[in-house]
Amino acid sequence: MTLRDKQIVVGVGGGIAAFKAVELVRELQRRGAKVRVVMTPSACRFVGPITMTGLTGQPAVTDLWDPKHPGEIHVELAHWAHAIVIAPATANLLARAAHGFADDAVLATLACAGCPVLMAPAMHERMWRAAANQRNVERLTQDGVRWAGPVQGALANGTTGMGRMAEPVQIADALEREAFAPPDLAKVRVLVSAGPTLEDIDPVRFISNRSSGRMGYALAAAARDRGASVTLVTGPTQLPLPAGVQTVQVRTALEMQQAIHNALRKTDVVIMTAAVADYRPAQAKTSKIKKQGETMSIELVKNPDILATLGAKRKGKRPVLVGFAMETNDVVAYGRKKLVQKKADLIVANEASVGFGRDDTQATLVGKRGDEALPPMSKRELAHRILDRVCGLL
Ligand code: C5P
Repeated sequence: MTLRDKQIVVGVGGGIAAFKAVELVRELQRRGAKVRVVMTPSACRFVGPITMTGLTGQPAVTDLWDPKHPGEIHVELAHWAHAIVIAPATANLLARAAHGFADDAVLATLACAGCPVLMAPAMHERMWRAAANQRNVERLTQDGVRWAGPVQGALANGTTGMGRMAEPVQIADALEREAFAPPDLAKVRVLVSAGPTLEDIDPVRFISNRSSGRMGYALAAAARDRGASVTLVTGPTQLPLPAGVQTVQVRTALEMQQAIHNALRKTDVVIMTAAVADYRPAQAKTSKIKKQGETMSIELVKNPDILATLGAKRKGKRPVLVGFAMETNDVVAYGRKKLVQKKADLIVANEASVGFGRDDTQATLVGKRGDEALPPMSKRELAHRILDRVCGLL
């Protein structure tokens, strides 16, 4: 977990996206960070400082003149911070920060910062594109500010456009990537497969499984944060696509195999987290199957085993291979069997009941030189533990 024990100051500006700053605080804490919050007076009109105080266990700082804070609170906060995140960063806040204003608690803390600063802008598209705002962004970039978003999407007034604040998960990802990741996978090309595959029965029905894609997306983001150049081949999921990763969206096992094949020549490591359907209907019907008798059967044919096909290639001709073994029982034993059968370099073995569809999981890393049983942890942290092992296999 790259944010473990990191001390992060979240500065909240006065925009409607301020409600998402609450979730951002939570997300940073989930990743192990210690968080303190500082708010502009207008931010306090959108979210209550008490909410932030409750979440962080530290009084949210809203006022440079608050007698509860002895001494210079902005100096103390800036010294404490390993990084400062401004979310939402409004047009007004960007303008004042670009000119070094220090007349509220957020700006005074920024003015005193000696650590990485990440801003997540949020405003109407016209405000974002305005010449004056772009000048301010340019100036702040020159001053070393890093950015998360803005992104294209629904804006506060009901229209759609550029200027929406990045989601809390994306802001936290950007912070890890921009401020803290060890660059131990620099120049390494990593391909991650993720999510389920969907195998069509007819135009409206398919066979699939409950894979959420979370593990694969966490791996793609973690590899990116460690400097790798990442390709994510993903089946259909509900997750936002990770930024800074080349993504190929596929539907079926055969499409996934083709996408992986296409990327293979430029790949040093393949991590197969995808829950590839083992079988597909022998024939996808072109029109909807009608309801008939009391029972029905669908003939299935085996899908190619993508990982095993890669494992069968000659050593030196193939990338480092990491597979997953999701089982309901005898997890580690099956994991060891898969390591041998599929000729993988590492298998991540975990139980379906603890992993599927959830944010956290518990796994055993099964390698050629033995097993490493890990305690329960977030998928993001597990991703980093897997990548630690990958570094040793390169
Ligand atoms: O054999 P099993 O499906 O349990 O193996 C799981 C591992 O093999 C995962 O890494 C999965 O991505 C990969 N796999 C594959 N192609 C398949 C089935 C599984 O690459 N058709």
